[in-house]
Amino acid sequence: MTISLRKAKLSDAEFLFDLRNQADVYKYSRTNRPVKRKEHISWLSSVLSEKEKKDLFIIQQKSVPIGQVRFDRKQDGEAEISIAVLKEFRGKGVGIKSFKEAVKLLKKEKKIKTIAAEVRKNNIVSQKFFERLNFKLKRKKGKWLKYILKI
Ligand SMILES: CC(C)(COP(=O)(O)OP(=O)(O)OC[C@H]1O[C@@H](n2cnc3c(N)ncnc32)[C@H](O)[C@@H]1OP(=O)(O)O)[C@@H](O)C(=O)NCCC(=O)NCCS
Repeated sequence: MTISLRKAKLSDAEFLFDLRNQADVYKYSRTNRPVKRKEHISWLSSVLSEKEKKDLFIIQQKSVPIGQVRFDRKQDGEAEISIAVLKEFRGKGVGIKSFKEAVKLLKKEKKIKTIAAEVRKNNIVSQKFFERLNFKLKRKKGKWLKYILKI
């Protein structure tokens, strides 16, 4: 499946809102509940305004949004990833391709040496996903596992 990535805009709010509120996306997120539209718009506005710290990409297939990849800069040289693909497009290699493409774009603009992924212990699919991308388990803390990958 051919995919492309582009930077997110405020007009992606509705797509991102629907994706964020899919049950198996919010279940594994930090705020593990659906968000309200107003809360989501203000979150997206702040992400888009923090260009030094946040990079949000829309995954597209033939110009149609099918997912998102976000990097939040945490500390020197480390960015935390959040990735989600619409349910009907999963298991077809979209996540792997998007990750690789997103890292290329990120490296062009930012001095990032490590990508971190915080995954819930019960999110087995994501653990497999990051392991498949050669992430290494760095820490276990409460309900969370931290994986890292040097890029
Ligand atoms: C994690 C996620 C982004 C993966 O996207 P995807 O497009 O389905 O992943 P891919 O098709 O590229 O699969 C890549 C690898 O992930 C693993 N994987 C994907 N789906 C899996 C499943 N249902 N069961 C077990 N492993 C799975 C496999 O190792 C797979 O490699 P393989 O095809 O060689 O076996 C997707 O499942 C998702 O959006 N989940 C909900 C949101 C979420 O939990 N995000 C992660 C938190 S940061």
